[in-house]
Amino acid sequence: VNDSEIIIIGANGQLGTALHQKYPGATAVDSDMLDITDGEAVAAFDWSSKKVILNAAAYTNVDGAETDAGRTLAWKVNATGVRNLAAAAIEHDLILLHVSSDYVFDGTQKAHTETEALSPLGVYGQTKAAGDLSASLAPKHYILRSTWIIGEGKNFVRTMLSLADRGISPTVVADQIGRLTFTGELVRVVEHLLGTKAPFGVYNATNDGPVNSWAEITRKIFAAANHPELTVTDTTTAEYFASKPGVSPRPLNSEMDLAKLHQTGFESRNWEDDLKAYIAKELA
Ligand SMILES: NC(=O)c1ccc[n+]([C@@H]2O[C@H](COP(=O)([O-])OP(=O)(O)OC[C@H]3O[C@@H](n4cnc5c(N)ncnc54)[C@H](OP(=O)(O)O)[C@@H]3O)[C@@H](O)[C@H]2O)c1
Repeated sequence: VNDSEIIIIGANGQLGTALHQKYPGATAVDSDMLDITDGEAVAAFDWSSKKVILNAAAYTNVDGAETDAGRTLAWKVNATGVRNLAAAAIEHDLILLHVSSDYVFDGTQKAHTETEALSPLGVYGQTKAAGDLSASLAPKHYILRSTWIIGEGKNFVRTMLSLADRGISPTVVADQIGRLTFTGELVRVVEHLLGTKAPFGVYNATNDGPVNSWAEITRKIFAAANHPELTVTDTTTAEYFASKPGVSPRPLNSEMDLAKLHQTGFESRNWEDDLKAYIAKELA
């Protein structure tokens, strides 16, 4: 596909920004230009020159989704919005590439596969699961299940670098495990699936590398940022959230099985390598 046949939805988010850098000639829209919750606006949009929708838009405030206002908005964007895009994809015979999350699972299975039954714990995960079901109705769909995305925007690595800057040694949960996923890696997956015309369907799409806890990842962030003086104290999710009523439950195991993606010929990068490069750039 040519860039001009691609539309990037949610182009100013972490992933949207990276996709736009990869496909500079694509149409890039934010919620001001195309609000995906507005079914009439999505239906009336001029899709005539498009072949591919890259949907990077979402309501991503996991704890916000547990509030009354947040719950409604999360459902609107993550479920109704995806439904509207799926309807356009069906009507205009477009490829719909949608991004989903480990939060559609309860995290009790080791290494989630694409065929695991949906079992979301919190509202955000429930809305993402509904979005997956909508997206899957478009005959030409790719649903990428990702985890712990790091790019241009507010994210865990930046939060920890900011603590390091201020000389703060944090307490971090040590019983939630997974892998960081850099936006550059997700863009490589998108490019690979579209470029090789891989079979449509659901694909887990995270960086490869060791499955670590947030505490272990924080130690690696501090090492890469050259802050050996800082310590990371382990805590449990239950303890950490005990003082924060109303926060969303989170899956403890976010490891995604990458075998299906690898069977298409894709070679994943290790998140530790991408972390080092990301931190070097942040500190430059
Ligand atoms: N972040 C993670 O750790 C993580 C992990 C797994 C999966 N995911 C999934 O990966 C995808 C990308 O995440 P991200 O971290 O890049 O998200 P992000 O930085 O929060 O960006 C989301 C974008 O969606 C846009 N958006 C919100 N409501 C919209 C609406 N009604 N219409 C159009 N656009 C709207 C926002 O634009 P405005 O500012 O204009 O509203 C924002 O730019 C999402 O599907 C997310 O669920 C994320």
